Amino acid sequence: MYLTKEEERTYEGEYGWANQICMKILVRLGELFKATKLIPISSAHVSGVSYKLLGDAPTDFLEELANSGARVKVKATLNPQSLDQEYLCEKLPSGLCKKQSGVLEYFKKMGFAQSLTCTPYYLETPKRGSHLAWAESSAVVYTNSVIGAWTNREGGPSALAAAIIGKTPNHGIHKAENRQPKVLVKLERQLQNEVEFGALGIYLGKFLEDKIPTIQGLQYASKDNLKQLGAALASTGMVNMFHLESAAVKAREIEKISMEAEDIKCTVESLSTASKSKPDLIFIGCPHCSLNEIKQIADLIGNRKVKKGMEFWVCTSHYIKEKAKKYVEKIEKSGCHVVADTCAVVTWTDKLGIKTIMTNSAKTAHYAPTLNKAETMFAPLKECLKVALEG
Ligand code: F3S
Repeated sequence: MYLTKEEERTYEGEYGWANQICMKILVRLGELFKATKLIPISSAHVSGVSYKLLGDAPTDFLEELANSGARVKVKATLNPQSLDQEYLCEKLPSGLCKKQSGVLEYFKKMGFAQSLTCTPYYLETPKRGSHLAWAESSAVVYTNSVIGAWTNREGGPSALAAAIIGKTPNHGIHKAENRQPKVLVKLERQLQNEVEFGALGIYLGKFLEDKIPTIQGLQYASKDNLKQLGAALASTGMVNMFHLESAAVKAREIEKISMEAEDIKCTVESLSTASKSKPDLIFIGCPHCSLNEIKQIADLIGNRKVKKGMEFWVCTSHYIKEKAKKYVEKIEKSGCHVVADTCAVVTWTDKLGIKTIMTNSAKTAHYAPTLNKAETMFAPLKECLKVALEG
């Protein structure tokens, strides 16, 4: 892999251990994927911020990096942490809050913006065609497919290294030829709600492996529904983007598959594992809610109240929570908690006694049985609200 003189000096350690280790991570990754050089990035987004998922050894590494002078060279944002200060911190063992605060301190010292969201594109939308180094698979698929910026699916360490160096190896979908669709997906009927968009993603992720699809007949889809599709697609597969079918693609000869109504129905059903009829937690906001979704929830709740004893969270970033203030007030008046900077999957729901999670997110329904040791009820927002408000 070609390195400029400056990059070589970093690699040899002239700018200190922290920069050297980050450069070594990028070069090793580049060699593995046969990259020819490093390219500048506009931003980096780092996952592995939640102490629940990190644990102690990676936290020690972050501390060492921060104390050895690692500083970001580009705009760099962070994924959700494992709790929020307002609601969950006091419900969880205090040692955990302390550990999480330590992780945030180290990132802060390195210059990361405390965005704490899996939807960093709501804070600042990347430019179409710009190169990024983002971890967080749902954001990767959304930014490649809906926004049109270019990023591979980075792991936490490689996104961190890219933030410190300001560059990433030019492989994968940083190259135009690797962004071409390989499979045309025909939908046999229009999708009805966000749950069906998620189910489509779960199904295709398993089926496609790493082949980029172009999906026919989704022109009517909202950005929020495409967010659900992308998050689910990345949960079960290695695909980092999808296309919505265009005339240019139509003309090309590629593999074709049909999605029958029955495939969607079976996938939706498979994402509900609960043996009980009532959830311990209703969770909306995976990926983190947009302003539009918060407004929609507030409108649907109206003046009604959440049933006594029902735990109901809507998760988003503190940035959107602040922007959506009047809707947030309305939602919280109902007894629902608008929880910022974290989500049900990356917090310790098991320590809160939650054994069954109801959600409209296919990604959460997919991960909760393993990451939360919880059973799932997978249903559209309107049904989740019905259970929250009517029992
Ligand atoms: Fe975001 Fe948590 Fe879902 S980090 S994508 S809300 S699992």
